[in-house]
Amino acid sequence: MKFLVIHGPNLNLLGHREPDIYGKKTLADIDGLLRKRGVELGVEVITFQSNSEGAIIDFVQSQAGQANGIIINPGALTHYGLSLRDAIVDSALPTIEVHLSNIYAREEWRSHSVIAPVAKGQISGLGWRGYVAALEILYGHCQEGQNP
Ligand code: DQA
Repeated sequence: MKFLVIHGPNLNLLGHREPDIYGKKTLADIDGLLRKRGVELGVEVITFQSNSEGAIIDFVQSQAGQANGIIINPGALTHYGLSLRDAIVDSALPTIEVHLSNIYAREEWRSHSVIAPVAKGQISGLGWRGYVAALEILYGHCQEGQNP
């Protein structure tokens, strides 16, 4: 099983960027935790971050054929990234949307996600543990698909 873990704009700054909101772990810390949990589950975890919507779409298009699912924190693209939303639909892969912060408890504009309607589900406000939970849930979902 192979999962794509995608981080959108500004998430390369995790650990330094508003740590009170996004936590103290760096992106490398989070990716490392996911790879470790992936090894335990027998899942290959391919991580990718870009500040550019086009680069994320190129990544999804190039990897979707060999992957079983997507975990994505789209950053601010969550709120307006319609091309990214289309790329997720076109991938036909089960997708879980993750946010470190609770997007419903912040500015009004953050409470709308254009990605959520095309995702299987969303985890918001649970910090880095939300990514690990997403990995476990996606794994369970794909296992069920293989062994109904
Ligand atoms: C975020 C929430 C977004 O509103 C914000 O633009 C981000 C991070 C989160 O993980 O809480 O970049 O996706």
